[in-house]
Amino acid sequence: MMLKTAFVMLSAAQMAAGFSMTGNRNLQNKNSLASIIEPQMKVSSTSLFMADTETVSIEDITAELNQHKQDFDAKVAAAESAADIDKVRVEYLGKKGPINKVMSYMRLLPNEDKPKLGAVVNQVKGELESVIATKKEEMQGADIENEMKAEAIDVTMPGLKKNVRTGRRHPLSITMEKAVDIFTALGYDTVTEAENSPEIETDYYCFEALNCPKDHPARDMQDTFYLTEDMGHLLRTHTSAVQIRQLGKRKPPLRIVAPGRVYRKDDIDATHSMIFHQIEILALDEKGKLNLGHLKGTVEHFLNKCLDLKLRGKWLEVLGCGMVDPNVLEMAGIDPNEYSGFAAGFGVERFAMVIHQINDIREFYKNDIRFLDQFPSFHDEGLTSLLNGDVGREQEEVNIKTVESAVAETEAKPEKKEKKKKQAPAPAGDIDVSKLDIRVGVITKAWLHEEADKLFCEEIDLGEEEGPRQIASGLRAHYNLEDLEGQRVLVLANLKTRKLVGFPSHGMVMCAASEDGSKVEFIEPPADAKIGERVMIEGFDGEPATENQVIKKKMLDKIFPDLSTNSEGVATYKGVVFNTSAGPCVAQKKMPNSPVG
Ligand SMILES: *[C@@H]1O[C@H](CO)[C@@H](O)[C@H](O)[C@H]1NC(C)=O
Repeated sequence: MMLKTAFVMLSAAQMAAGFSMTGNRNLQNKNSLASIIEPQMKVSSTSLFMADTETVSIEDITAELNQHKQDFDAKVAAAESAADIDKVRVEYLGKKGPINKVMSYMRLLPNEDKPKLGAVVNQVKGELESVIATKKEEMQGADIENEMKAEAIDVTMPGLKKNVRTGRRHPLSITMEKAVDIFTALGYDTVTEAENSPEIETDYYCFEALNCPKDHPARDMQDTFYLTEDMGHLLRTHTSAVQIRQLGKRKPPLRIVAPGRVYRKDDIDATHSMIFHQIEILALDEKGKLNLGHLKGTVEHFLNKCLDLKLRGKWLEVLGCGMVDPNVLEMAGIDPNEYSGFAAGFGVERFAMVIHQINDIREFYKNDIRFLDQFPSFHDEGLTSLLNGDVGREQEEVNIKTVESAVAETEAKPEKKEKKKKQAPAPAGDIDVSKLDIRVGVITKAWLHEEADKLFCEEIDLGEEEGPRQIASGLRAHYNLEDLEGQRVLVLANLKTRKLVGFPSHGMVMCAASEDGSKVEFIEPPADAKIGERVMIEGFDGEPATENQVIKKKMLDKIFPDLSTNSEGVATYKGVVFNTSAGPCVAQKKMPNSPVG
């Protein structure tokens, strides 16, 4: 029975690995041996024990091999990786493994059984090897999968705050979302869908329907990106087009807020970008229900909510607002005698720049993380909490301080600022009315524009060698054709030639217009003024600018707001009268205190 003993000792390593060998008759024996004999000792002791053994049958050996195989199968089944399989292979098929050891029983076999031993052992060996090969391949696949599983990101796990950068909303997004939230809470509908707020607009929605006819100087100022040669399609220059589209779809009463991207052919600099954002609101109701007070209240509420600030000096620069032009309503098919309302809008970038004391608009588009990091994070509510200090993160502290000082500054000197504004309202550097070449002229011929039903075509004599100029004016709502011939007018003569619905127009006739645009009157030079003489404005006697400079520097934009009639209907620039050799120029019916353009 030495053989059995030897077997038990060979299996000691397996026992040490915690593998149980149920059904083994020598379990007791084996356990005690395993605990006494060191693994290295076992092999040599095996042969020691075997030295005295008499005989063993081939059946005994087969039975033993089967037992090994059974153990082997169990271990393979329990293996969890290719490395585990390798261990099992070395243990069983290695030089010192039980299978090879069985060959040492050769001398104990009866002579007739000796040739069978090799075949028996080899068969088992073959079987084990093939199991190993298959299993190992499987395991390698499983290993890769496990590895991938281990490296996968569990999105349900809480994020690690330390060392991980959390995302933030872009300051422009925060500003827009905040503004939209405030107006939504007041009952305004947000309009952002592409079909209601397209960035590619038609001339009609962007200009024409907004009472900005083809000869209006605002069109030059807008510096539009036109997309088609006939200038019918363009990239919208403002979000006001959204209002017109809504008016075409819905009947008042209505309240809408429209945030969106707009485009201008501006040179990029610290305060200009070719692409920027606007937010506009429009409120329409039965006539008389909404007045300037409501507009003021709404804008104040917005600024209050947004900034805890009162409507003062600085804000006027970023926020434009007014009552809706009745002509605009009429063109949209809404009776201005039935409905009225107000509109307001602001440039998001400018607004954010004032709030956060950012001095370069280009910072918004650089995506410099150091810049973006200074704004409230993704989880934050936006500007309110930033200003209230709710944000509570060290990073933002600097910014809160900046904003607070901005707020303090604005609150400290609103009066001063407003006074300054009245005295020198145009902080436009050296651009004043003298840049405009305003000449005395007379209409020598007039006819109706064939395609544009708002336009007159005129020939106006400015005493120029080349003869009268051709100019188109959108005055058909205010004058009859027969009124025009012989009419003395002032012409803004240094404007670039513009095609107005196919008619090249070489200048602009100056008129006074009531705030709502319903009344328009020619500014008339005195009867004795010389044709072609330049209008003088005391204290502003520079040389006129070139046509290109007028457009490039947006001079009309800067000068026109200061042109108006005084209480006697005399045209003035900052209160200084338009004078000629024969005296001042007056609105035809002396319309007082009205814008001139
Ligand atoms: C207008 O110009 C005339 C002629 O140069 C001059 O006599 C008159 O004082 C000027 N009037 C005003 C108000 O500037």
